Amino acid sequence: MERAGYELVVVANRLPVDVTVDEEGGTSWKRSPGGLVTALQPVMQQADGAWVGWAGKPDLEHEPFDADGMHLVPVALSAEEIAQYYEGFSNDTLWPLCHDVISPPEFHRTWWEAYRRVNRRFAEAAAGQAAQGATVWVQDYQLQLVPAMLRSMRPDLRIGYFHHIPFPPLEIFSQLPWRRQVIEGLLGADLIGFQRPGDASNFIRVVRRLTDLTTRGSMVSVPTEHGHRGVRAAAFPISIDSSKFDALARTEAVKARAREIRHDLGDPKVLLLGVDRLDYTKGIRHRIKAFGELLEDKRLEVPEAALVQVASPSRENVEAYQQLREEVEILVGRINGEHGQIGSAAIYYMHHSYPPEEMAALYLAADVMLVTALRDGMNLVAKEFVAACTDDTGVLVLSEFAGAADELSGALLINPHDIEGMKDAIERAVRMDPREVRRRMRKLRRRVIEDDVTKWSQRFLSTLTAVPDQPSPPPAR
Ligand code: G6P
Repeated sequence: MERAGYELVVVANRLPVDVTVDEEGGTSWKRSPGGLVTALQPVMQQADGAWVGWAGKPDLEHEPFDADGMHLVPVALSAEEIAQYYEGFSNDTLWPLCHDVISPPEFHRTWWEAYRRVNRRFAEAAAGQAAQGATVWVQDYQLQLVPAMLRSMRPDLRIGYFHHIPFPPLEIFSQLPWRRQVIEGLLGADLIGFQRPGDASNFIRVVRRLTDLTTRGSMVSVPTEHGHRGVRAAAFPISIDSSKFDALARTEAVKARAREIRHDLGDPKVLLLGVDRLDYTKGIRHRIKAFGELLEDKRLEVPEAALVQVASPSRENVEAYQQLREEVEILVGRINGEHGQIGSAAIYYMHHSYPPEEMAALYLAADVMLVTALRDGMNLVAKEFVAACTDDTGVLVLSEFAGAADELSGALLINPHDIEGMKDAIERAVRMDPREVRRRMRKLRRRVIEDDVTKWSQRFLSTLTAVPDQPSPPPAR
């Protein structure tokens, strides 16, 4: 019998909206944070599919609903599951493990148990939404066990998985006490996508070294009851809805707001901008330190130069994030105390998140964008900045440790650990000849407008469809 359901189901930890239920039972929602939602929202607005995910609040049992042109299927998490599966295993074990152990990962068996339990719930929810033979696209590190769980529940499905964050080298991944289970979970997919070729090769190496499975190039051969199944691991660098962002930045309202922002900041000669979730992977402290030293050295001066730092609140119950917030705020306070003047601060620090219109205006207003991540899967802020620079002005200073560095030639690449090098690059960006600024920005814009998120999803989904669904003989070792 044919099953009713969706031909395409996306499963992600978060829904694209965070839901709030008021006392009368009415619901309202606002957009969820992060790059995953930025990228997938436009894809799902065009597809006739379902998005399975958590609505951002504890114990929220809610029927599927439609919002912003998407069909959303909430998965409920208890407060304890949020603490153990989301804040714990996802964001205090896997996140630091995948980001060069910048903060030490914690390994707790109770967290792992919760991760397994919650992954099963997501797998069941996805299985309940998918039509016979449908495609299920599992997203990100919070759900690495879902592909294998789903395959055992629904062998008829075609299953893709995309890892939005870096995949660590073997030497780091091996620390994980449940490393085999995680690999087995991922190998339930037909196609495993990564941001950079280096992430895909880290994964293949992990499979070769930690399992007995055979690999050939980007293919892993997994035994099944009937023979073998091929799993492909490859890079699919993600992007944004570039033309939509470009169009937004061309609206009169956004242009007027950009002028207003500069005016309200006292019309500085040079406006520098940082936009991040407040996360220790983003190199916010390093960037602020470099800016502070440039002021100290009088290579930049207030009020001619100003830095706007938007740091949107993130994972506020995780200790490493609380500590980072303290450190950043102390640093900003110190630099403003030393270099600020009445009416003009050195750093305008905002611990808020803003809607896309305001972000587009900020990008358009800025002269120099600072993306100084210590490690980042892609960094879509860099691409948003480029898409918003419709007047071809603006210089992007970009960390070589962000996936975007592979694609965005035209940016000034930096190593954020090298404070002197970063200072030189910032100064170079500030003083760059306008012709060079334009030349670089045009190059960046061609790339970002061309390689948008629709292309990314089409590439991933067409590769997924092309993975042969018949069992194949094992490749020779
Ligand atoms: C990154 C991750 C996403 C995550 C986002 C926001 O972009 O790759 O999976 O959703 O950060 O983090 P949060 O913990 O708030 O979902």
